[in-house]
Amino acid sequence: MFIGLDLGTSGLKGVLIDGSQKVVAEASAPLTVQRPHDGWSEQSPADWISAAEQVLQQLSVQSLDKVQGIGLSGHMHGATLLDASDEVLRPCILWNDTRSHEEAAELDGDPLFRRVTGNIVFPGFTAPKLMWVQRHEPRVWERVAKVLLPKDYLRLWLTGEHVAEMSDAAGTSWLDTGKRDWSDDCLAATGLSRAQMPRLVEGSQVSGSLRDALASRWGLPKGVVVAGGGGDNAASGVGVGVVRAGDAFVSLGTSGVLFAANDGYQPAPETAVHTFCHALPDTWHQMGVILAATDALNWYAELVGETAGSLTGSLGALQGPGKGLFLPYLGGERTPLNDAAIRGAFLGLEHATDRAAGTRAVLEGVTFAIRDSRDALAATGTKLERLLAVGGGSRSDYWLRAIATALDIPVHLPVAGDFGGAFGAARLALMAATGAGAEIATLPPIARTIDPDRSLTAAFDAGHARYRAAQSAIRALAH
Ligand code: XUL
Repeated sequence: MFIGLDLGTSGLKGVLIDGSQKVVAEASAPLTVQRPHDGWSEQSPADWISAAEQVLQQLSVQSLDKVQGIGLSGHMHGATLLDASDEVLRPCILWNDTRSHEEAAELDGDPLFRRVTGNIVFPGFTAPKLMWVQRHEPRVWERVAKVLLPKDYLRLWLTGEHVAEMSDAAGTSWLDTGKRDWSDDCLAATGLSRAQMPRLVEGSQVSGSLRDALASRWGLPKGVVVAGGGGDNAASGVGVGVVRAGDAFVSLGTSGVLFAANDGYQPAPETAVHTFCHALPDTWHQMGVILAATDALNWYAELVGETAGSLTGSLGALQGPGKGLFLPYLGGERTPLNDAAIRGAFLGLEHATDRAAGTRAVLEGVTFAIRDSRDALAATGTKLERLLAVGGGSRSDYWLRAIATALDIPVHLPVAGDFGGAFGAARLALMAATGAGAEIATLPPIARTIDPDRSLTAAFDAGHARYRAAQSAIRALAH
C-alpha cells in the first residue's frame, strides 16, 4: 500500500492506495491563509504538520502495516525559511503572495534568469521572496540556513532530511530547468549558495525513509520510503496520467492551471507560460497559471452569503455570456499578464443583475482567463489534444461546459474520486518503492465527456473579446 499527501492551500489531503492503485481510504484537514497586508499570503508551517498528523491519524483507522511508500505533493513556490537548527524563521510566504514584485522585476531584468530557468521571475516564485526578506527582514535573512518548499518541510518532519525534487524546484527561479540542477549563478545573484538548498532527487526516486517514531505512532512498518513527489501540478499530472505530449488537464483549485505535458524542454518565457520539470525523469511540462479560480468563486460566494456549491448548482443550462463581466484578478495575475498590481472588476452591472448573473460572470471570467492561458500555450507551439478536468471547481458542470465551449475542446471528467495531487503523490510513492515508471501513470477512467456547445461558440468568442478589451482598460487603471 502507498500513501499520497497533498498539501493544498485550503487543506491537506491524504489517500491510501493498494498495489493495484485502488483508493482504499481518503482523509483531509483544513488549512487557512493569513493575509496580514494587501498582496501578502502566508501560512504557518506548524499548521501543515498538525494537518498531516490529523490526516495520518484518520488514515490509520485502516491498518497501515502494509504501507511501503509515502509520496508528497504541495502548493509550489512557498519560501519556508529555516535556521541552522531547522527552526522556522517566519511564516511561509506563499505562491500567491505578490509583495516581492519589485524584487521579481529586478531579477527578471537580468537575462541570466530567463536563460537558465526558462521562466519569467514571477513575484510568486521563491527567489524574489528571499530578496524581499533580505531587504525588509535583515535579521531573518542573516539566519537563513535552508530554504525549503512547503511539501519539503513536511518531508523534513517525516524523514529528517532536506530534500527537494525537480518539478517543485523548477518554480524557485534557482533551478537550471534544462539541466535539472541548482544554478550556482542564479543562487549567487540572490545572495545565496547551494549549501542553503536541499539535495535534489527526481519525483519518482526515494528521498529518505520515514522516521521510526512516526512509523510506530501510526502503525507503519519500519523503513517506509518517502518518494521525491511533486509540486501539486506535476503530481496532479502524474495522478491523471498527463505525462505524454498532447495530453493536458485544467485544474480548478484555489489557482487555475492549464497544464500540458511536453516531449522535451521547450521554454518560452516571453509568453508568461511556466516551463517546469515534470515529476518523472527526463520529462518537462508547460502550464498557464491564473491566481484565482475557485478562490474567485469562493470570494463571491462569501460576498453574497451563499456556498459556492449552491450558487453553481442552481444555474441550469449553459447560457451565452450576458452583459455582466468579471475579471478574476483579486490578487494580480500570472499568465499571460505577469501583473502583480492589476485587480479584479465587475463590469456591465444593471438593475437586472442578480446573484445568478453574478455567479455566471465569475465562472465565465475564470473561463476566459483559462482561455488566455490556452492562447499563451498555443503561442509556444503546445497543442492540447485531450483535456481532463480536476480540482474542486470541476464539480460544477456549468463551469466545465463553459470551459469546453470557450476553449472549443471536449473536457473529460474522471470518475468520482480524487485523481489530483494526493493520488499522483501516491503513484510516485509506488514508483519509488517498486521501481515502476511512467507506465503506471495511466489515464483515469472517464465518467463523462463534456462537449463544447457549438450553438454558443460565437457568444463565448464575443465574451472573450470583451474580456480582453476590459483587461487592457483596467490594466491602465491599475498602473
Ligand atoms: C503554480 C502555482 C499554483 C500553486 C498552488 O505555479 O503557483 O498552482 O502550486 O496550487
